[in-house]
Amino acid sequence: MSIKILAIESSCDDTGASVIVDGKIKSNVIANQQIHALYGGVVPEVASRKHQINIVPTIDTALKNAGVQKHELDAVAVVSGPGLMGSLIVGVTFAKTLAFSLNIPLIEINHHRAHVMALFIDDPKPEFPLLAMTVSGGHTQISIMRDFNDVEVIGKTLDDAAGEAFDKTGKLLGLDYPAGPIIDKYSQKGKPVFEFPEPSIKGLDFSFSGLKTAILYFVQKEKKKDPDFVKNNIYDICASVQDRIVSILINKLVKASKLTGIKEVAIAGGVSANSGLRKELQKKGKELGWNTYIPAFAYCTDNAAMVAITAHYKYLEEDFADLLLSPKPRG
Ligand code: KG4
Ligand code: ZN
Repeated sequence: MSIKILAIESSCDDTGASVIVDGKIKSNVIANQQIHALYGGVVPEVASRKHQINIVPTIDTALKNAGVQKHELDAVAVVSGPGLMGSLIVGVTFAKTLAFSLNIPLIEINHHRAHVMALFIDDPKPEFPLLAMTVSGGHTQISIMRDFNDVEVIGKTLDDAAGEAFDKTGKLLGLDYPAGPIIDKYSQKGKPVFEFPEPSIKGLDFSFSGLKTAILYFVQKEKKKDPDFVKNNIYDICASVQDRIVSILINKLVKASKLTGIKEVAIAGGVSANSGLRKELQKKGKELGWNTYIPAFAYCTDNAAMVAITAHYKYLEEDFADLLLSPKPRG
């Protein structure tokens, strides 16, 4: 018997749907909401309304691309949180209604857990115990994963997430939202000639707020000498910012590997799409004898395939939710 699951992701500003059959992703559709760039960040009410418009066509396309009919589904999975209430409610309500009408199980998925599970979509898959660093717009943490259900967080951010560090710095530099991918692109044309401080946080925790302030003061100072400083040096500034964020992340990962002795090392989440971070992880991995893992590009930023793979393993354990499931904005 084959297991066919439809997975839905609507926690923030992108509507995603994916179909997985026997643990293999058959479709992965995402409807991006470009409108938020106009406002410099995600506007929750607008995101919610766009999800309502996008959810039916996104799911229809995911089913069509997978060649699967609604009545063939064995389960429906949905992200219940963390995320924006108005966004989550669209996906959760849709999933509950579909599960009820088709009389099939509903599977509840945590968004952060799904980011890590993206590592198990393609081959080669990591082995346990695994050291996983999740870096996204809402999350920066290092965990030891001993099994799918045995995850211990050993380090986390004390303030901003790595993605926020990119996005907030980008805002200071006048870049559009989300600035992460733009800083990544511009970095490739520049050199990290400006030195920004590395915070001295003990242990495995992270902090990015000091870096943001340092960049703000640096830009203000330089603008006094040359009002066009940012414009004239944007590529080098971006390369310097990226270089520092990457070194903060990689240095903690190296520390975590030394402390735990684990050499199966992975990154996941939106910021793992960053070319500088991907390169540096591979470089360090070679140097230190790690086996390194990064999800395919399409599975780094928010997507429903990561929800689908998580759902597949939950289905095997018959870990189902009841139809009273409600969104959990805090996860
Ligand atoms: O995982 P994700 O799509 O959503 C959350 O769960 O937060 O991550 C979004 C974050 C944003 O902050 C975005 O700027 C960042 O990931 N991001 C990047 C890149 N692509 C996305 N940051 C740096 N370089 C990139 N290439
Ligand atoms: Zn995410």
